[in-house]
Amino acid sequence: MSKNFDVVVIGGGPGGYIAAIRAAQLGFSTACIDDWKNAKGGAAPGGTCTNVGCIPSKALLQSSEHYEHAGHAFAEHGIEVKGLSMNVGQMIARKEAIVKQNNDGILYLFKKNKVTFFHGHGSFVKADAAGYEIKVTGAAEETIVGKHIIVATGSNPRALPNVAFDEKLILSNTGALAIDAVPAKLGVIGAGVIGLEMGSVWRRVGSQVTVLEALPAFLGAVDEQIAKEAQKLFAKQGLSVSLGVKIGAIAAGKKDVTVEYTDDKGNAQKAVFDKLIVSIGRVPNTNGLNAEGIGLKLDERGFVAVDGDCKTNLPNVWAVGDVVRGPMLAHKAEEEGVAVAERIAGQHGHVNFNTIPWVIYTSPEIAWVGKTEQQLKAEGVAYKAGTFPFMANGRARALGDTSGMVKFLADAKTDEILGVHIVGPMASELISEAVVAMEFRASSEDIARICHAHPSLSEATKEAALAVDKRSLNF
Ligand code: FAD
Ligand code: NAI
Repeated sequence: MSKNFDVVVIGGGPGGYIAAIRAAQLGFSTACIDDWKNAKGGAAPGGTCTNVGCIPSKALLQSSEHYEHAGHAFAEHGIEVKGLSMNVGQMIARKEAIVKQNNDGILYLFKKNKVTFFHGHGSFVKADAAGYEIKVTGAAEETIVGKHIIVATGSNPRALPNVAFDEKLILSNTGALAIDAVPAKLGVIGAGVIGLEMGSVWRRVGSQVTVLEALPAFLGAVDEQIAKEAQKLFAKQGLSVSLGVKIGAIAAGKKDVTVEYTDDKGNAQKAVFDKLIVSIGRVPNTNGLNAEGIGLKLDERGFVAVDGDCKTNLPNVWAVGDVVRGPMLAHKAEEEGVAVAERIAGQHGHVNFNTIPWVIYTSPEIAWVGKTEQQLKAEGVAYKAGTFPFMANGRARALGDTSGMVKFLADAKTDEILGVHIVGPMASELISEAVVAMEFRASSEDIARICHAHPSLSEATKEAALAVDKRSLNF
């Protein structure tokens, strides 16, 4: 086997494995190194996303939503369920099987595309005329050389100072996705994406969930009107979210965790939980890469410093995904991976940061693309807004899920769509239309004039576009 490659990718998450496949498609001899191990010590490519992120969280969200529907929504349809119970072990086993299918799928794709996979940890050794020497340690012990290196080493959960994750009582996303019995009382620190998704899973299957958030506003990055609507809906479901708290001492006992904090009125509080999820953001992972030794520049927050094209300070060394600036999202990592492979091939790879969609997979889902109303106000942009509630959508009524709305923001003069915000059923799927529209710089009138299938949730998107011009037909 040749040890010299045109492209060596370090990290096999969505940024790395997609970059490797695209590089191979473009005719480069390509290697991908990934150190993730499954429970048996075997290779488990796919990174955080596949192993302890996007995929397993969505599996648990689906299972727990079915359970909630069976317990609360089926009766209205005339479906009677007696003796309903939750088998958490089976829910977790199903999740693990889905993760494995994804790991195996990536190994298959590597074979199909002739990407050489190394299961181990990659680190820079030295650079010379042939390229960069990379040492692989672990299951595969090798030294390989790459003309181009793509660093895609991802991120790790951020811990509270002096509160280590033990993954038994104090959980990161890894432990939160592997709880083996419903905790009666679950504490969550951080009302961000992970806190709300994981809090929803365990609330649906019976936990009393308390989410403690430092900021005074709920989901500050989300359009305010949408965030307020979501906050109301979550409160109705029984998800308790306390804003503006200051976390104090955290003490893990034998079977529970005590959290001391100050509430938004300045009162000292103490809560005891059976499990505590800490989801306060993630930090870039450059552990053991020997960045310093090779002279790879990191920024002041520890991210690999890159320019707009994902080029680092070292010639022919690129970096993509969570380890560089920008939103920590799998699809952003993938887009950067493709763009870098194409740039190596001399093409003009491009990532449009203005049209990266965000989705929070709660129920109802929250999804958005482009600017929020508060951002437009702050930037002094003149805009028009149009909203349409799912309550007035026939398909949503038939589904039995009429919560939320679609909101359009368009330029006051040109009518170009500047942002679309959705809280409601299947928002994750509905947002794609808005992404396509914004990529083509469509106006709200363009969407309003396009024929949408009836009855469908997408009619709410069309109606919100019509509402920009105050001519909704069904509301
Ligand atoms: P990673 O996925 O972190 O992959 C990096 C890989 O590189 C890992 O396998 C790591 O072990 C390996 N590695 C690191 N260093 C080395 C080394 N030196 N040598 C060899 N291998 C190395 N995003 C979404 O878009 N949608 C979602 O629904 C979503 N849900 C999420 C849910 C949770 C609970 C979490 C935690 C995250 C979620 N994310 C989601 C974020 C998403 O997982 C990340 O944005 C994405 O995984 C980043 O991809 P990446 O390739 O940059 O890094
Ligand atoms: P996050 O950034 O979404 O949320 C962290 C929250 O914790 C924030 O609201 C922050 O104000 C709060 N916080 C920070 N320090 C705190 C403290 N000391 N006390 C109390 N609250 C504190 O980060 P999260 O939820 O950990 O997720 C990490 C990232 O993973 C996300 O930003 C996202 O990029 C990605 N992700 C994406 C998902 C999706 O696309 N559906 C799902 C889950 C994660």
